[in-house]
Amino acid sequence: MKNNLDLEEINSIESQNKYIQRVKAILHERRLFKKEPLYAYIATFGCQQNEADSERLMGTAIMLGYEKTYDMQKADLIIFNTCAVREHAELKALSKTGQLKHLKEKNPMLLIGLWGCMVSQQHRKEDIKHKYPYVDFVAGTNMLHRLPEIICDVLVHSRRRYYVDDTPAAIVEGVAVERDSDLKAWLSIMYGCDNFCTYCVVPFVRGRERSRLPCDVISEAKQVIDKGYKEITLLGQNVNSYGKNLPPHQRINFAKLLDNICSLDGEFWVRFMTSHPKDASDELIEIMAQNPKAAKHFHLPMQAGSNQILSQMNRRYTRESFLELAAKIKEKMPGITLTTDIICGFPGETDKDFCDTLDMVEKIEFDSIYSFIYSPRVGTKAAQMEDLIPHEEKTKRFAALAELQGKISDKINNSYVGKTITVLADSHCDKQSGIVTARSEGNKIIRIETDKEIYGRFVKVKIERAESRGLFAKLI
Ligand code: 5AD
Ligand code: SF4
Repeated sequence: MKNNLDLEEINSIESQNKYIQRVKAILHERRLFKKEPLYAYIATFGCQQNEADSERLMGTAIMLGYEKTYDMQKADLIIFNTCAVREHAELKALSKTGQLKHLKEKNPMLLIGLWGCMVSQQHRKEDIKHKYPYVDFVAGTNMLHRLPEIICDVLVHSRRRYYVDDTPAAIVEGVAVERDSDLKAWLSIMYGCDNFCTYCVVPFVRGRERSRLPCDVISEAKQVIDKGYKEITLLGQNVNSYGKNLPPHQRINFAKLLDNICSLDGEFWVRFMTSHPKDASDELIEIMAQNPKAAKHFHLPMQAGSNQILSQMNRRYTRESFLELAAKIKEKMPGITLTTDIICGFPGETDKDFCDTLDMVEKIEFDSIYSFIYSPRVGTKAAQMEDLIPHEEKTKRFAALAELQGKISDKINNSYVGKTITVLADSHCDKQSGIVTARSEGNKIIRIETDKEIYGRFVKVKIERAESRGLFAKLI
């Protein structure tokens, strides 16, 4: 463990200056030798937080002298920003890593790095070390600002490097960012999680909860609005506990932060992800309801509908309190889009428990559900639990849930027909099909039949019909 002075140095953006100069000089030489630009390619697995981190990695890569590419084949730097939430995501990243071997053989100057949640786990770091010798560096989520140092280390010493350690992750402001979209901006307001839901690996791979200062969040929000962004998504594993660890004179809660951002000048929507139901306050619901710029979309992960399973998951709410919360949100904001996450086949989940989940889904009528088959994660409490549900049973439950939700989503989508709503056009006009895609406040995909170029504008549309492919609308 490092002492505090070391930590302060390591976790400062200035600590990177000396590496930046060195890497720039080496890459300059390589570029002259190659007689072409050097390209960086970053693939993101997993959640929006990873998307946001990848934009910082790309920002740093560009600052070092790379150009961005979407073509992995021509890249001179490849980073896979990995996910550990379910085994499926890990296996996908490992299989894609396997495919990189031949690229390294073709281009010995290629640097390959694995980043983020999956490789923050010691056992995965060891896997990479022993089974993927062509991977040049591995770095955990707490290393985001240290990409220049890592690349410098690999280039100067020509050796493989493993930056996975227990350095307490800090918040480092000032990391360069290259956003993927010119319309929608991710804005991290906090990192890590202290909730320790028993199935979840996030607290182990992303560390303790820490919030950015409100002034830093608001100043980034202003910057993106000034650049013309129309949608900001505030990100955190549990945004409702924002501010808890801030110094007292700077401490505000999430509701106030949202209010402050909604009060900024400009035409934009603000969303947020994700809310823990145990912390969703009346104040937050009130502020959302009052602010037209707060998009009327609440993603409220329920995970399960049985009190027994919720307690085994350490979720710290009950089906009754969840029902009450969902009803309150719908009452204060009629027409709001409510979405959720549900896990099928948590250890010990009986048929009766699963019926409780279906019952909640029927009662609440979410607009859509992200459902997941339970996947045991190394180091979590649930991974020690007995009474595992056979895979076949888990998939049966998953299918039953999808079937029920399909009917509910159809019913809700049909209720939109004939309504006039405001949407944000987020694709350019496809002249062949005469369709522009757009998003509603609830993030529903709306296909507008028009040949007008309306990309990036908020427009009013009338919903004409609901199909299995989604909602179709006309401009009004
Ligand atoms: N197995 C299955 N699903 C999981 N999630 C988190 N951990 C697991 C796991 N071990 C789901 C939860 C969470 C979403 C992001 O991923 O539903 O809300
Ligand atoms: Fe995981 Fe629970 Fe934290 Fe969400 S709140 S990141 S599910 S531990």
